[in-house]
Amino acid sequence: MNFDTIVTGDLYTIKKTLAAISTDILAEGDFHERLAPAVKQYSELMFGLTGITENQSEHLQDIITSHGRAIAAVKAGFCIKEPIRVQRFCRGLYKAVVDRLKQEPNRPVHVVYAGTGPFAALALPVMMQFKSSQLQFTLLEINEVSYNALRKVLKDLELDTYVKRFELCDAITWRVPDERIDIVISETMNYALMKEPQINIMLNMVSQLGDKVIYIPQDIGVQLTIDNGRDSLTRVADLYNFNIEAYQKIIAQSVNHNGWLFDATAVDYQPEAKGRPVYTTSIIVYNEDKLTGHDCSLNLHQPVRPALPDEACTLLFTYQDGERPGFVYQTADK
Ligand SMILES: C[S@@+](CC[C@H](N)C(=O)[O-])C[C@H]1O[C@@H](n2cnc3c(N)ncnc32)[C@H](O)[C@@H]1O
Repeated sequence: MNFDTIVTGDLYTIKKTLAAISTDILAEGDFHERLAPAVKQYSELMFGLTGITENQSEHLQDIITSHGRAIAAVKAGFCIKEPIRVQRFCRGLYKAVVDRLKQEPNRPVHVVYAGTGPFAALALPVMMQFKSSQLQFTLLEINEVSYNALRKVLKDLELDTYVKRFELCDAITWRVPDERIDIVISETMNYALMKEPQINIMLNMVSQLGDKVIYIPQDIGVQLTIDNGRDSLTRVADLYNFNIEAYQKIIAQSVNHNGWLFDATAVDYQPEAKGRPVYTTSIIVYNEDKLTGHDCSLNLHQPVRPALPDEACTLLFTYQDGERPGFVYQTADK
């Protein structure tokens, strides 16, 4: 059946298609043969159903916050096109829900999904695996175009029964309701944690929910690496791993401070004649589901700027909060 027939088809056909897509996305394995076709069909289905398009200016507008950029509805929608990113996040979330249900099978698992984009692309394949009595979502999105598109498509697909709450809000300042929450998932990041507010969103959640909750991703690591070309990389240093322990440390050391305090990581740097210093990013989504190497756009290399010194020195790297988040460095005093 071709794509137009599916999008204009009856609800039963659309949901049957979505269920088949979800099974293929959640299947075990790495880049198996059913993955790319399933993700392509998923993307076509969701763009078709929501009408999110590059031809409408309000679908193209980013929102600038004081802690990074919330990307436009179209760009957030494009994230659905990345097969391995979609596979690892959906499968990680699916396995986390299964783990929680094993612990307490008689109440629904409650997932907070911060930064849904127009399709809640990481949630729909997971919804298709459970009854709404087993799984409930709180959905948060700052962009009104994405929020409205998602609200409508969930209703049209009769998936709104999985939604406990849907808020048009800033997930950086959102106050957690007095309810049990099992899992927080957010993919509001760019490679090298540049520009987007992932870390601030996670810090807001961890500061209110503590360590009893599963956070997805479990760990986001940024490294200083020398890119020698032809796929040859030399890892110089792990600059930071953002995980529950790190978030809790940042929260503890930021008490009585206006904003979050991030530690600097000292690196003894020996310049290399060849090779380009870059920031690399590796992500543990949930247990075995990881994003590393060239898996997806979140693993792209970011050149270190300004250029590193020509002589051996100690460099202090820090994650910088603010309108343009990301890593910065300075040379340590001798
Ligand atoms: C990179 S897109 C990912 C979309 C979707 N979660 C996915 O993975 O396909 C990030 C989304 O988070 C939203 N977002 C960014 N900052 C936010 C904030 N502070 N509060 C709520 N939503 C935010 C953006 O508007 C965008 O829709």
